[in-house]
Amino acid sequence: MSQSIETLLNEQRIFMASDEFRVNATHSDPDIYKIAQSDRLGFWEAQAAKLDWFSPWQSVLEWQRPFAKWFVGGTLNASYNCLDVHLPTDRRDKAALIWEGELGDVRTLSYAELHDEVARFSSVLMARYGIQKGDRVTIYLPLIPESVVAILACARIGAIHSVVFGGFSAQSLIDRIHDSGSRLVITADGGYRRGKVIPLKDIVDEALEKCPSIEAVVVVRHVGNPIHMHAGRDDVYQEIMAETSDLQDALPMDSEDPLFILYTSGTTGKPKGIIHTTGGYMTHAKYSTQLVFDLKPSDVYWCTADVGWITGHTYLVYGPLANGATVMMYEGSPDYPDKNRFWDIVERHKVTILYTAPTAIRAFMKWGDHLPGMHDLSSLRLLGSVGEPINPEAWMWYYTVIGKNRCPIVDTWWQTETGGIMISTLPALSPMRPGYAGLPLPGIEAQVLQDSGVPIEAGGGLLSIMSPWPSMARGIWGDNERFKSVYWDTFETYFAGDGATVDDDGYIMVLGRVDDVLNVAGHRIGTMEVESALVEFEGVAEAAVVGVADDLKGQAILAFVILKEGVTPSKELERAAIEWVGKMIGAIAKPKQVVFTPDLPKTRSGKIMRRVLKSVANGQALGDITTLANPEVVDFLERQLNSV
Ligand code: WTA
Repeated sequence: MSQSIETLLNEQRIFMASDEFRVNATHSDPDIYKIAQSDRLGFWEAQAAKLDWFSPWQSVLEWQRPFAKWFVGGTLNASYNCLDVHLPTDRRDKAALIWEGELGDVRTLSYAELHDEVARFSSVLMARYGIQKGDRVTIYLPLIPESVVAILACARIGAIHSVVFGGFSAQSLIDRIHDSGSRLVITADGGYRRGKVIPLKDIVDEALEKCPSIEAVVVVRHVGNPIHMHAGRDDVYQEIMAETSDLQDALPMDSEDPLFILYTSGTTGKPKGIIHTTGGYMTHAKYSTQLVFDLKPSDVYWCTADVGWITGHTYLVYGPLANGATVMMYEGSPDYPDKNRFWDIVERHKVTILYTAPTAIRAFMKWGDHLPGMHDLSSLRLLGSVGEPINPEAWMWYYTVIGKNRCPIVDTWWQTETGGIMISTLPALSPMRPGYAGLPLPGIEAQVLQDSGVPIEAGGGLLSIMSPWPSMARGIWGDNERFKSVYWDTFETYFAGDGATVDDDGYIMVLGRVDDVLNVAGHRIGTMEVESALVEFEGVAEAAVVGVADDLKGQAILAFVILKEGVTPSKELERAAIEWVGKMIGAIAKPKQVVFTPDLPKTRSGKIMRRVLKSVANGQALGDITTLANPEVVDFLERQLNSV
């Protein structure tokens, strides 16, 4: 790791967008930074004013650290701003969504069609299920158009959506339903992943045995597999939608009414339900999508994230639709049926903007240049990266092989908690440097701080957002104390949990998490979540989990496990333990390897020295181990790791 940071720090290459790109870009006035700085709140008001409000706000910001209220007193509707606003324009009959299934089927919905589908589903939610403003609705769907419909239908009536990624297990679904107190689940019979059916409805059935708050389940018929329908509880989406032609109007929401909860991993075993509200979130979603991606209604914009993650919320649904673009959506995996699937999609649908993750880019690099080489990628005009640091090699590959040296790359740093992009170059305005996210967006004040909280002019430290911004999290569902302690106890300002460097030009390079959160293929996974799952596995006495550097995924999970007395370690047991974690959390959390050990490195007071485990796992120097009570275990672990 430290070696790769060194290499990154020596990265001097600089790239600029072409004159052609700059001439056509919506935001090409460098004064935007100055304007935002000289009157930050006024600048945000100007961005908010680009949304359609039912009634104006009385004050821009009420800040009672750490709780912000933006555009207080204003009313608006997020679904209205994504759909209804386009109906009187020539975007009405333009594609809002182009969806391609893994099997190759394509569905296109115009803005008018998407509007009608959403408005009809809102009416079903209200009339049939009595869903009202403030009720929580859990969405557990594959990446199909109905996931966008469900999200916007909730927003339309003020129901708070809680989307759970379709790769999460029944147990994870249970935890999130319990915590949010959802009344309804929207799911599908199944989804496709690499040609296989993921039986989502079966997983929901298993989960609902333990979820008394759920009154009803709406099941989208997607793959057509046999499923069990519980009479009186479950309905088929297509059937109940066919029964009504009522179109529900978008209801006025207060700017601070919650729009959604999204669960994300932290350093304890319990995921945090991050709350976002309506006015501020939508302001930043619309603004940042246009600014960072130079998004225009003429674009075919493809964000490859699943709606189960924040990227899918802000940059697949709310941001691009608020800007009237055509959103490309692809259900499946990038290597199905072949490893050129992405490039085939770009070519056939003439995708102009591609927003994906470094883990995918590294996989494409490994698969070979000949695959994109087989396709006409000339429709592309801008590329984006998100989710984890992009190493300069991957950046250069993306730039030359995919972008053919003519598409600017935006490396966007942000988090579930920030709601939208905080740091990125602006394609027509700032030079691009591989490995650097760039400058905070106009309106955002981000800095790198020393441990003491003092800003660093140039060098490395901890990333912090220095003043409130419209799309900031409003809290953790049901646990505001945790919200305070996780994000606001370290500094006076927002503590992001990431390490970063800043250079003389103010360019920020994000290095990754400084806490016990792993970033596996761009997904946040708490070490404690995996450890809690492992100790529930029969025969396990104790477990410690660390991240190891992984060429493709950025990080992979390595678990050290102490077995109970009398339990014998074996390959089968390792495999079973890995499967168990998959069952408890989801496939993304499966350790790459489980190392059975009689002991773990501990301090004399019995605390596991995770730092030592990390060094051992990554083959690095151990540093100071004078407080280690049992140095012999380190030799043992090193031998174990070297033997595989
Ligand atoms: C990491 C995803 C480096 C970071 C939008 C952050 C990044 C966590 C970048 C949030 C980037 C995201 N460069 N690291 N461009 N983007 N991260 O909540 O560690 O799923 O704290 O939000 O991803 O992950 P989350």
